[in-house]
Amino acid sequence: MIKIDQVNEEEFSLIEQLGKESLPIYYCCDDLKMLKMTGHIILKISKETTIVGFVVCRETADNIHILSIAVKNNDRKMGYGSKLIKYLKQKNKNLSLYVHTINDTALNFYKKNKFVISDIMFGYYDSFEDNKDAYKMICEL
Ligand SMILES: CC(C)(COP(=O)(O)OP(=O)(O)OC[C@H]1O[C@@H](n2cnc3c(N)ncnc32)[C@H](O)[C@@H]1OP(=O)(O)O)[C@@H](O)C(=O)NCCC(=O)NCCS
Repeated sequence: MIKIDQVNEEEFSLIEQLGKESLPIYYCCDDLKMLKMTGHIILKISKETTIVGFVVCRETADNIHILSIAVKNNDRKMGYGSKLIKYLKQKNKNLSLYVHTINDTALNFYKKNKFVISDIMFGYYDSFEDNKDAYKMICEL
């Protein structure tokens, strides 16, 4: 059975590990604690009892901004990422995010989920050696 729920504090280390395996910039347990304390949404998607993906977002009155999303390597291309996006869309708010301009997989994924590029942010990832630019993508109601 596939389930989407809030992440518990005891699961932060699993989310940290999944992020580390999947993303160039990931949240450590302390970051996740801080994000949760400041009202961010941290959701997991589980297959039976195993966490296969997560999303971290900031929700405001009319928008949900996705800070981070990842699915475990072996569980990709099976619809889990899209299920997380669909879950957020049920809140009937606009969605936004920044994505590395060279992350073709993520760009395809967001486009497939009806996001469009709305802006380019030159030098957004300033800690990267090169290819520092990001697209802003949005999915409006
Ligand atoms: C991006 C990511 C979350 C997608 O999760 P996923 O569960 O594999 O995505 P889905 O199975 O829901 O894919 C939906 C669509 O996205 C596109 N897509 C997903 N993976 C793709 C790939 N490797 N190559 C091309 N298109 C891809 C396809 O259009 C796919 O539809 P299809 O299966 O009908 O072809 C996952 O690849 C991931 O964790 N990547 C590493 C972390 C990352 O880059 N996060 C985004 C940072 S902004």
